[in-house]
Amino acid sequence: MSIASVNKLMAQQTMMRRVIPSSGESIPVIGLGTSDEFERNTSDNLDDLKAVLRNLLDNGANMVDTAPTYGNSESVLGKLFSEMNIQQQLFIATKISLRRVMFNTKQAGIDQMIESANVMGKSPLDLIYVHNLNDLDTQWQNLQEWKAAGKVKYIGVTISNYRDFDDMEAFLRKANGVDFMQINYSLIEPRADDVLIPLARDKGAAIVTNRPFGNGGYFRKVRGKVLPDWVKEFGCESWAQFTLKWILGNPDITCAIPATSNSRHMLDNASGGFGRFPEQSERNMMLEFMQSI
Ligand SMILES: NC(=O)c1ccc[n+]([C@@H]2O[C@H](COP(=O)([O-])OP(=O)(O)OC[C@H]3O[C@@H](n4cnc5c(N)ncnc54)[C@H](OP(=O)(O)O)[C@@H]3O)[C@@H](O)[C@H]2O)c1
Repeated sequence: MSIASVNKLMAQQTMMRRVIPSSGESIPVIGLGTSDEFERNTSDNLDDLKAVLRNLLDNGANMVDTAPTYGNSESVLGKLFSEMNIQQQLFIATKISLRRVMFNTKQAGIDQMIESANVMGKSPLDLIYVHNLNDLDTQWQNLQEWKAAGKVKYIGVTISNYRDFDDMEAFLRKANGVDFMQINYSLIEPRADDVLIPLARDKGAAIVTNRPFGNGGYFRKVRGKVLPDWVKEFGCESWAQFTLKWILGNPDITCAIPATSNSRHMLDNASGGFGRFPEQSERNMMLEFMQSI
């Protein structure tokens, strides 16, 4: 889509927001993933990443998702946040990201949270998850203690692979106080619809969706294909928006976090959070279309 049409769309409306059930606070429905995209050498020019963050904020979005194990993304983000002075405008989400090691993972989890807050210059951080349910019992307890002490605003758990769906289900069924669940969900990975999204909703968790583009695999699948005409009825003008609008057409989804290091892609992705989202009948047609190509 052209930049002019994105600008026109955005001048007319504001980005959709959805409510975090545990607090009643609302957040914008599009955020930014940073797993590979925000890794840089210390000598690199960061202007491209500044432009991504500027386009995120200028279009009414504010969630940035990272982790201490995403290379040096947290320190690159920390540098950018400080130079742009934007920590307080952002909703910063990170993770405790540990494999079970031989001893004292409790302290290792705490050390990681302290380091994340220091590196990114915001305390309390907005959201910390247990990454991929790793070392779950110990790290979930850490998160509950930190939240009770006011050291983090929201806590949650993430997965990004179908193989972890059963473990996430078991955790959600017994856990209380889960503010956020983050999960893989898109037109090419729709299975969270079956159990986990309704379960998380019923447990009062906000739902963040990762891998909206299957880490790029989605674009390889649609390469050379033409968008169906009928998607223009709900303002969809690109393949990125096709899956983002499908995700957000599910009213249980709080925020989708596409990753990009490209400011034009950030604009394209942000515009997926504007205007009308597809109804369920339209979402069914989108899924059928995707499964047919
Ligand atoms: N277990 C977990 O907690 C977990 C696991 C996976 C992911 N995540 C989170 O979710 C985020 C997103 O998932 P993901 O990293 O798998 O990536 P993704 O968002 O599914 O795909 C990213 C890829 O799509 C490209 N892209 C982005 N916007 C585009 C656009 N408008 N047009 C064309 N190409 C576009 C990006 O390249 P460009 O840079 O060129 O735009 C990049 O190659 C991660 O960064 C991370 O924050 C969490």
